[in-house]
Amino acid sequence: MGIGGSDMYRQQILDHYKSPRNYGEIDDPTFTHVGENPMCGDEIRMDVVLSEDEETIEHVAFRGDGCAISQASASMLTEQLQGMSIEELQAMDRDDIVDMLGVDISPMRIKCAVLAEKVAQDGAEIYFGEKEIDRTTTEEDDD
Ligand code: FES
Repeated sequence: MGIGGSDMYRQQILDHYKSPRNYGEIDDPTFTHVGENPMCGDEIRMDVVLSEDEETIEHVAFRGDGCAISQASASMLTEQLQGMSIEELQAMDRDDIVDMLGVDISPMRIKCAVLAEKVAQDGAEIYFGEKEIDRTTTEEDDD
């Protein structure tokens, strides 16, 4: 699938791709948001439930179609996001995603890797009134 890195990390990516964690929908989420990778048109949608004080992520689910990197990244991210503060989510960048995946990601595939992170971050920003967009698209200079 065009990624370098150790076998252990490649195995982990394939495992998340084949058996995505937190895949599906949440009834009545605090917010939901969708984004796409414009290079291929693949989409990821995320449902997020926040704590009562709206500072912490309590539950996340995602659904979508895409390559192994995008789906594994979304699956792994949903595990990391549970219990994370909104502040921590907004502080995440592409290096965190590359570290999470543990493999070398080519510049072309970075859009796949960061799609889920962008969807979660934009979804939160829209919810808190800091951004006004309908959909997220990953861009060349995404961080
Ligand atoms: Fe579409 Fe990776 S090729 S998200």
